[in-house]
Amino acid sequence: MNKIFYYGRQSIFDEDISAVSDVLKSDFITQGPNAQKFENELSNFFGSKYATVVANGTAGLHLIALALGWKEGDIVITSPITFLASANCAIYAGANVDFVDINEKSYTIDPNKLEDKVKTYLSKNKKIKAVVAVDYAGHPCDWKALNSLKNKYDFQLVNDFCHALGAEYDNDIQYAVKYADAVNLSFHPVKHITTGEGGAILTNDEFLDKKVKILRTHGMTKDESILEKNDGPWYYEMHEPGFNYRITDFQCALGISQLKKLNKFLEQRRFIASFYNRCFKDDKRFIIPHVADNVKHAYHIYPLQIKFDELQIDKKEFYYRLKEKGVVFQVHYIPVHLQPFYRKKFGFKEGDFPNAELFYKREISIPIYPSLLEEDLFYISDAIKSTLDKMQ
Ligand SMILES: Cc1ncc(COP(=O)(O)O)c(C=O)c1O
Repeated sequence: MNKIFYYGRQSIFDEDISAVSDVLKSDFITQGPNAQKFENELSNFFGSKYATVVANGTAGLHLIALALGWKEGDIVITSPITFLASANCAIYAGANVDFVDINEKSYTIDPNKLEDKVKTYLSKNKKIKAVVAVDYAGHPCDWKALNSLKNKYDFQLVNDFCHALGAEYDNDIQYAVKYADAVNLSFHPVKHITTGEGGAILTNDEFLDKKVKILRTHGMTKDESILEKNDGPWYYEMHEPGFNYRITDFQCALGISQLKKLNKFLEQRRFIASFYNRCFKDDKRFIIPHVADNVKHAYHIYPLQIKFDELQIDKKEFYYRLKEKGVVFQVHYIPVHLQPFYRKKFGFKEGDFPNAELFYKREISIPIYPSLLEEDLFYISDAIKSTLDKMQ
């Protein structure tokens, strides 16, 4: 086989291309009517009162951080097993970042360990400001536990939901905004639906929604209720500097067209995951992703653990050998606390979050995207097993 299989890729169809080209021929190509329509459709799908589309998921997290009022000295907690942006957004706002280890089954932030961390801060007379919980790989966090901690200790809760579009928690596809103050989405090409680059913020909080919408466009407002004066229809004011985090209308047309296919994409991802589950579950060298009873996984990623440590196999060597067969895995993630920036700034070190560190050593993200064929899945799983066989 001379195909190359990466861990993720977009699925673009003719109707997606027509939707984009229609907008390119229209009057609006930057933020216009399709942005508004995409926002409405995201709100409907995910059950939020408000939605704001933005340039990318990182911009979304940045705006959430500012709208939630994070500032210097605040403590924001996230999981070490996430993309850099889940932690960096707190840094952008001048806050301090701390981490809480993952639960070894769900790979999401462990609520018991979070409570220990909150109590440790309280014993030093410090209160945490917010938790950015990540529905890693597409498996929702333990949101009921997180919500009860939020109520008990009074902190803000953000769902970094970039992996979990279409996941279900207690049979509810609209769970994200029910538990979190703000929910962040990304439409990067490897995600469930794509706009090239793009993201969105969902919330039920009107104040938060207004704030992120103003900050998305330089902090400019024409809202009569807050203008200090009004020189005429051209007039705007800026009360706080914002950014240009807008997304174009042709990207939003792509998003609208892609959202129509989300349920189909989810079905295909779940089919692939169940194929891999069957292939790897009875082989002691692997650990397949666990799914909690009240969860329907969205499988943005299929995180397969291989016990490289016990098998005494070098992961790097395995990577190169598998790549020779056209299967190129990715690793999600290098624990964020071990990044030089976080080590130097906050003194994190190896051993701080053992579950995350062991997970990093074992995890490989194997190809999962809708256009994979069943013959591809046989090929990929066989390549993984036979490469391991040869290295043992
Ligand atoms: C968990 C998580 N948060 C945030 C982001 C940032 O999204 P974007 O790439 O759209 O900026 C990503 C994207 O990879 C992500 O996976």
